Amino acid sequence: MMMLDTTTLNQQRNFFDGHKDIWLFGYGSLIWKADFAYLERRPAYITGWARRFWQGSHDHRGTPEAPGRVATLIRAPGTVCHGMAYRITPDVLAPLDVREKNGYLREKVPLTFLSDSGRVASEAEGLIYLATEDNPAFLGDAPLADIAYQIANAHGPSGPNRDYLLNLAQALRELGTEDAHVFALAEQLHSPS
Ligand code: SIN
Repeated sequence: MMMLDTTTLNQQRNFFDGHKDIWLFGYGSLIWKADFAYLERRPAYITGWARRFWQGSHDHRGTPEAPGRVATLIRAPGTVCHGMAYRITPDVLAPLDVREKNGYLREKVPLTFLSDSGRVASEAEGLIYLATEDNPAFLGDAPLADIAYQIANAHGPSGPNRDYLLNLAQALRELGTEDAHVFALAEQLHSPS
């Protein structure tokens, strides 16, 4: 079973120790499934990262026998990745660590916030949950049709894998942003090639 529980590792990744609040940047399910308390949320982006359905999910959107695929970030200089930033209190990190335990590690990244008019409003250091290619659940690249097929057929305790993808595509549309990888996968689910 290709799993690594990152909960304990993340407890040591205290990049914002002593802070009374922390900006968490969500780029995947954390955009559309905010099942945690937050003080405020704002559309934001990070640079140098691209969103990809390259992480396996054995615990939420698939099973150990038939893993699903969920979002992670890969390094992509010059690329902008839009998402949602949440200002949270430090006690929210423990349940987030559990939710993200299948391979995701806390990382510190610079965030840029957008104003209502879409202009750059301000910047801050924030936290992301990142599944790097050296984690055991990492699946990596595959032909788009294969990724879409896997997503269309995987189910896990959190529900069908397709809901993760389609909810993310919808949330990105609502944010007024484009993501060629996500939209192409969503399109494949509707009309498989
Ligand atoms: C995120 O959404 O920021 C991390 C990956 C996920 O939980 O889907």
